[in-house]
Amino acid sequence: LDNGLLKTPPMGWMAWERFRCDIDCKDDPENCIREELFRDMANRLVEDGWKELGYEYVIIDDCWMSMQRDNQGRLQPDASRFPGGIAKLAEYVHDRGLKLGIYADMGTQTCMGFPGTTLDKIEIDAQTFASWGVDYLKFDGCNSNPVEQMLGYPLMSKALNATGRPIAYSCSWPAYVGGLPPNVNYSLLADICHLWRNYNDIQDSWDSVQNIIEWFSQNQDELQPTAGPGRWNDPDMLIIGNFGLSLEQARSQMALWAIMAAPLIMSNNLRNLDNSARAILQNKAAIGINQDPMGIQGRRLLQETSHIEVYWRPLSYSASALVFLSRRTDMPFLYHTSLAKLHYDAGNYEVFFTGKTVAGLNASTEFTVSINPSGVVMWYIYPEPSKQTDTLDHQHYK
Ligand code: GLA
Repeated sequence: LDNGLLKTPPMGWMAWERFRCDIDCKDDPENCIREELFRDMANRLVEDGWKELGYEYVIIDDCWMSMQRDNQGRLQPDASRFPGGIAKLAEYVHDRGLKLGIYADMGTQTCMGFPGTTLDKIEIDAQTFASWGVDYLKFDGCNSNPVEQMLGYPLMSKALNATGRPIAYSCSWPAYVGGLPPNVNYSLLADICHLWRNYNDIQDSWDSVQNIIEWFSQNQDELQPTAGPGRWNDPDMLIIGNFGLSLEQARSQMALWAIMAAPLIMSNNLRNLDNSARAILQNKAAIGINQDPMGIQGRRLLQETSHIEVYWRPLSYSASALVFLSRRTDMPFLYHTSLAKLHYDAGNYEVFFTGKTVAGLNASTEFTVSINPSGVVMWYIYPEPSKQTDTLDHQHYK
């Protein structure tokens, strides 16, 4: 949706994958969905260096609502878990220079059975969110049929626009109709939504991450061209820092989400993230690649019989990113290739990776990268600077 919002993929934090629908505040006060959770995460984003890197959205997911609308038909938060109300929480988040996201569902009920937004409720819900100062809406699609979705998603886009408040609009629609044309009309989505969930929910496992990467790569001819500034494919949340990924696998998720121009929306416990997860999620090269202003989504270039895969994304300033992913399970694999084999033009290149710069690579130079099992090597690569043009533009990736 071309209205000036989300020129680069959104970055932030969302409750769902890590905290789900835990509403047991009596026995699990630290983890239940209530206003303290979101205030804590806002504080962590500001105090632990996230905000300055671009992580700015704090997003409430399902299970925030009261089971009843109020006497004017408006959604309202569960009073025991959000006693201050959403407007107050938005103010808290805004006071810290962050933005607040919220969740609703096109249908009779949310996926977890809370009040849904049927067609007749779209306008009032958009107005309620705007009146609270909400900055982002995740509009899910449980408990509706394709006809209602076809009407409801564009209607919500109009209703949000009519509020006059800039509200980023995330549409789960494609995920409910198979994610692919002809069932999904991606040019329509690009006109009405800023981002959209294409595929299944991410779970806390490497299997899930691999399955998502595979689906997006197999369907890249359909999906990759639809992305751009203000319109992003969303392979779902970053689960780095939780229980399911090894260190290598966490690096792989970050690198592939950078290549895919994916939203960088973490769902983890920022209160007790370990240093290695923090370092991966705060990696400036990966974030710089993800946030590249041209906003061209990357692609899988090669799948070798050795189970090495090569991914590529074109970037501003004639630069590009390469990610070498190992699907092997034995030991670090020595992959021999050259830029020419990866379809780079003749010329001299420099490569930046893991803190090192390697100069003097030309397209035909044979090189070797060592890739750990279920890990990646990520390269930022650019034409060797001539004496006249400066290298400054590339510095922010380092
Ligand atoms: C669906 C969505 C998830 C989450 C849950 C909440 O499964 O895809 O991201 O919002 O609903 O119930």
